Amino acid sequence: MGSFQPHLEKLKNLMHINDVQLALISDRMLQDMSIGLQKSTKSSVRMEMLPSYVDCLPDGSERGAYIGLDLGGTNLRVLLLTLTDPIDGGAKFDATIKSESYKLPKEKMEGTSAELFDFIAANMGDFAIKNGLEGKMLPVGFTFSFPFDQDRIDHAILKQWTKAFNIKDGVGEDVVQMLRDAIARQGNLKCEVVAVCNDTVGTLVSGVAEDPNCQIGLIVGTGTNAAYLEKVSNIESVSGYKDDRFMCVDMEWEYFADTGALNNFVTEFDKQVDATSPMPGEFIFEKMISGMYMGEIVRLILCQLASVGNIFTEKCLGDLRTTGGFDSRYVSDITEEAIAGHGETDVVTSILASVGVKASHGDVHTVQLVCEFVSIRAAHLCAAGISAIARKIKANHPEQNDLVVTAGVDGSVYAGHPTFDTLLEDKTDELCRNHGVKVRFIRAKDGSGKGAALIAAGMYRNRK
Ligand code: BGC
Repeated sequence: MGSFQPHLEKLKNLMHINDVQLALISDRMLQDMSIGLQKSTKSSVRMEMLPSYVDCLPDGSERGAYIGLDLGGTNLRVLLLTLTDPIDGGAKFDATIKSESYKLPKEKMEGTSAELFDFIAANMGDFAIKNGLEGKMLPVGFTFSFPFDQDRIDHAILKQWTKAFNIKDGVGEDVVQMLRDAIARQGNLKCEVVAVCNDTVGTLVSGVAEDPNCQIGLIVGTGTNAAYLEKVSNIESVSGYKDDRFMCVDMEWEYFADTGALNNFVTEFDKQVDATSPMPGEFIFEKMISGMYMGEIVRLILCQLASVGNIFTEKCLGDLRTTGGFDSRYVSDITEEAIAGHGETDVVTSILASVGVKASHGDVHTVQLVCEFVSIRAAHLCAAGISAIARKIKANHPEQNDLVVTAGVDGSVYAGHPTFDTLLEDKTDELCRNHGVKVRFIRAKDGSGKGAALIAAGMYRNRK
């Protein structure tokens, strides 16, 4: 590795955000959260701080069968959640889940909204047939992983398509109505869409079913975002609730840095990722963290190292020359091998071979380090955000010393990357240390779809 060590050192420094800087980022996010909750000041920040109208969390008394729909970054998941009397005789339901995942074809992500919603309804139909649910009237909770405005729980005006969705229409329309229309067009489905939520809100609610202390929902997958429980009296746009109530707020934190909050940390690689992305200038925070971009950042760094002769001496870059030529999954797989600590390089060598790169032993080590720097930065930025949320929650509970709050987390990066969870947890601990609050992380597997079904169950409970 000898001669290119200084180069790696430089790269490490470039990607490193130190604790003082992370604490300042946390401060800035905390400030933006409060500003974003006020109607009069909201326009000076980019985070949306959207009220979800989810103010009633599962209490264990729910029973019955509910459909959860989860339209995520790359898949549609349909699930049947059945809540029955517990066999242990306790008060909290026993829950069983049957689910199917349907890969979203690229053309459905780039066609019309009617085509996308017809695809959802068709797969709900397939799911109903497979599970003997045809003709059954079931309440549906719909997780829609995009920003939308709400004035009630079953009404959601789409603000923007995000991630890799490049659909030309639908913005400004009610996604619940679009789903209801598609279900009607489908013909033989009987179900009632009773609630819609962002995936972070769904994850929070499903976290509550695991741990009643769950107050944060976090997604680190194709995209990233977080939701938390806020005092209704702090959400200026919501009225008609008692002041002591709490409501899930969907922060839409992927927009956080779009006002320049991270300008000092945005590297030339982030700028290139941004420039070639479908939405340049937007989602800067997400682009530094989430799975849609992690592999791309690594690819760009490797290309630059190659161009100055620090890696891949044969100048054979294969697919690495092409935008999107290095999947974020590889970052996880390479890190997995690197942390095993046996000095093995089979995985990284074969990944590089699969993208057409012939690498020397030294190159392989460099690739491992680049993946590490990119992963650490992503997890630490996320920790800065989570620590801001923890501090906001703490401010709402000044009477509680040493508050512990639980965060339910889901998403392909959190679930699939071998060190992301520990990096996130450790850094959040450090950033919260002097603020009288600690965050406990739990994996909310299938969280968002299950959460939507639980919200539907709560609606049904309230209607009875
Ligand atoms: C979307 C959010 C979503 C997040 C995680 C972002 O790109 O805008 O609404 O919660 O991804 O899926």
